Amino acid sequence: MEITSTRYVAALAPQLLGLLVTSIIIYALARLPSYYQKIQLWRKYCSSHIKFSREAGQGKYLWLEDPWSKSRNYWLCKHVAIKHVFSRSAIQETDHRAGFDWFHFAGWEIPTTDNRYKKTVRTADSTVHRELAKSKLSSLLDSVRRVGFSEIDRYKTAVGKEGKHVSLHTLMYRLGYNVNCIGIFGPDLDHVKTRVILQNFTEHQHMMFHCFNWPLPLWLTSRVVPGARKTVKARVELFNQLLEWYNAGGVATASSEMQAVVKVFEDAGTSPDIGSKFMNMMMIAFLANTPETLGWLFTHLVQSPKLLEKVRAECDAVGDVEPTAPFLKLTPHLYSALFETCRLYVFTGTPATVVKPTRLPGMGDHLFLPGDILHSMGQSAAFDVDVYGEDAKFWKGHRFVGEGESLLKYDLTFGIGRSPCPGRNFAIAELCLIATRMVQTFDFADPMITERLRFDDPDFIVRKPMPEKTVDIIDLDGKVYRVIHPGNGSDQGPPGMTAANTPACDFACKLTPRE
Ligand code: HEM
Ligand SMILES: *[C@@H]1O[C@H](CO)[C@@H](O)[C@H](O)[C@H]1NC(C)=O
Ligand SMILES: *[C@@H]1O[C@H](CO)[C@@H](O)[C@H](O)[C@H]1NC(C)=O
Repeated sequence: MEITSTRYVAALAPQLLGLLVTSIIIYALARLPSYYQKIQLWRKYCSSHIKFSREAGQGKYLWLEDPWSKSRNYWLCKHVAIKHVFSRSAIQETDHRAGFDWFHFAGWEIPTTDNRYKKTVRTADSTVHRELAKSKLSSLLDSVRRVGFSEIDRYKTAVGKEGKHVSLHTLMYRLGYNVNCIGIFGPDLDHVKTRVILQNFTEHQHMMFHCFNWPLPLWLTSRVVPGARKTVKARVELFNQLLEWYNAGGVATASSEMQAVVKVFEDAGTSPDIGSKFMNMMMIAFLANTPETLGWLFTHLVQSPKLLEKVRAECDAVGDVEPTAPFLKLTPHLYSALFETCRLYVFTGTPATVVKPTRLPGMGDHLFLPGDILHSMGQSAAFDVDVYGEDAKFWKGHRFVGEGESLLKYDLTFGIGRSPCPGRNFAIAELCLIATRMVQTFDFADPMITERLRFDDPDFIVRKPMPEKTVDIIDLDGKVYRVIHPGNGSDQGPPGMTAANTPACDFACKLTPRE
């Protein structure tokens, strides 16, 4: 009996196997078109965020689905949908906390879900929000002014009376970095060493953030995927710097805002490494976007002579401006140019998790299900002609002046709704303050594209000229001009979290002190 049934099965085995293989093939074939479509979308996005975003912004694709992630990840392209996801009215449907907890844990090993530290980390989070509230910014902005202005004086000395060519994008990056690093962490944290590490981190971060969604354990991806490995290496180096700084008593000379955050961890009696991981995460938030934005702003401003003239008149008129001044009112063209730069060069990818089955405006009748992860593809919303009009693809510095001011409400630079950047008021004020001072201090001439400075190069060198790319921009007279462009360095590969685009080369020009 035993033997016959075994024989019977053995005789059937090839048929069963055949059946199995056939079903697999049919299953795969049936899914092939949708899989092919996903891969096509993905390939396009990876070859150029900007090109794809423009296409997506025109309404061709409503979302980009990540074909390799373990849960369903959607990159929303439509402004209405993104806005809804992060609005208060969607509070029953989407949760943005879960994504952030995961992101903080996966990216920086902050123990967001460990019950021993959960409460402390939350308190530290809300301390950051409280300390950076608009009403409390004056002491922090005073140190920004002190550090920023002395840096600009240093540039003035370095270029001499006759002026000199400098790698302006890099110089502006370093200006923004030093202002925030010294202003927030105080003089004892090495701002050159940490900048080099942090630039190394931002250069590779997209890959690491992308691995978070893969159905593979982090310990594996962070060891085998080159981009992720490099990012993790930089993170560990930065962590060591922060811990060393903390152990040497660096906090004593830090800003009161930073001291307040550190105090949360000390009061809770957590070991210094937890606090250092949190500071490490904050370093990226404080120090990656602001400097890059300043670099891009000047690349365009220098090449929009009519706008620059207007901006100069505004800046000269405000003179020795208070750091807490209302820049939107005082220097509207500069303010607008800054937001225009952010519109084109900062991408927001903040995720939210669906907690209740929901449909989204602009997304047809697709039902998003609990566990789906929704990212805002800020870049495509930024190119939406329905929002910004036909000239959305151009940098137009005065876009947000006058009637255009109302368009500021569509800005996604700092996130929106329930989950905005706590440092936004600070960032806007300091960027306006520093840019005002730069415009007051220097004349800019003779733009050129050069090889990008290495992260550890000294400040005042210019490397060899590079082939120029061009881009069309709109100056204050409403006309389109073709100007030189250093190329978009991080417009490749899968989308990351929130970050500013990096340039492929440097934008150099002659900096001459005005009398
Ligand atoms: C141009 C500059 C900046 C841009 C574009 C930017 C953008 C963003 C965005 C989009 C988020 C995510 C918000 C969310 O959806 O939850 C964020 C988070 C954050 N930002 Fe900013 N930010 C900038 C500057 C700053 C500055 C100067 C500070 C502090 C002084 C800061 C502190 C933070 C912090 C602490 C977070 C929360 C980070 C986290 O929990 O992961 N940011 N920022
Ligand atoms: C950046 O990191 C890589 C290793 O990931 C290292 O080889 C390189 O020296 C670093 N660059 C700088 C300027 O620190
Ligand atoms: C770089 O990005 C900007 C902003 O998205 C875009 O307008 C420009 O065309 C891009 N330039 C190049 C040379 O890729």
